[in-house]
Amino acid sequence: MHTESAWAKLNISLDIGEKRSDGFHSMKMIMQSISLCDTIELELTEDGKITADTTLPYIPADERNLAVKAAKKYFETIDRKDLGAKMYIHKRIPVGAGMAGGSSDAAAVLRLLNRLSPDPLSAAELLAIAETVGSDVAFCVQGGTALAEGRGEILTPLCDFPSCRFVVCKPKFSISTPELFNSFDRLKTHVHPDTAGLIEALKNQSIPEICRRMYNVFEDVEDRRMKTVAEIKSRLMDGGAVGAIMTGTGSAVFGVFKDDAMDVDALVKALKAEYGFAAAAVPVNQISI
Ligand code: C5P
Repeated sequence: MHTESAWAKLNISLDIGEKRSDGFHSMKMIMQSISLCDTIELELTEDGKITADTTLPYIPADERNLAVKAAKKYFETIDRKDLGAKMYIHKRIPVGAGMAGGSSDAAAVLRLLNRLSPDPLSAAELLAIAETVGSDVAFCVQGGTALAEGRGEILTPLCDFPSCRFVVCKPKFSISTPELFNSFDRLKTHVHPDTAGLIEALKNQSIPEICRRMYNVFEDVEDRRMKTVAEIKSRLMDGGAVGAIMTGTGSAVFGVFKDDAMDVDALVKALKAEYGFAAAAVPVNQISI
């Protein structure tokens, strides 16, 4: 049995550009891997079958699961369709949270299969497979701190996030991605995050400078659920966060705390009791493949 960690991601910023001719919007996002992770257990088989059971019974074990899709594409690429994989995924990353739970599982499967291969693919080849599995999968393969453009697959590594603690909280509802993009398109004016300023703030390793510039344009849409997002942000700020925003398409919200912040664990406990999910995490740097 082989194991691999699948780290969740947070959006330090999320900006949306033009709607493209393929119907997708071009994105500009700063992404960050964090220590909250799923664990993949994988057994290689020779029966050509690929399955992924998880701790959550409502997650499909077939190709609708990105981990299965990733393994299938990997075996196709190396021309070994005779190979199979029996996987078990311990889910800790909340589902429907904007934390790349499914994408990070798929990325971990790609890393793991490549590690087991006697003739591993190059990083570029692995990233090319990742891109075809889902928009966030390429980022999750290498993780760390990166600017993600295009649909999320054009990656530029950035300076590591300074040492800190994140507190993530997800309310019980999720927000559908197409619905959120439609609501964004209906907005008459669009505010944009200062992405260049954020990249500079990362270079300066300054948590206050980073936090002042963190921004997710999806928070501007007219949706009653953003009231709960704003409420959780206030709870995080009142609890001592230097900054707080929603990640991705939500509904999870996170705060950045200085390493010496007091009572982060008490805050996690209180948020968990009130909203259903909360956890503390630290930044994870880029993984070499
Ligand atoms: O990536 P995902 O399959 O979750 O996207 C669901 C839908 O969200 C897409 O079909 C598209 O309508 C919208 N979307 C978009 N631009 C993106 C990502 C998603 O318009 N960059």
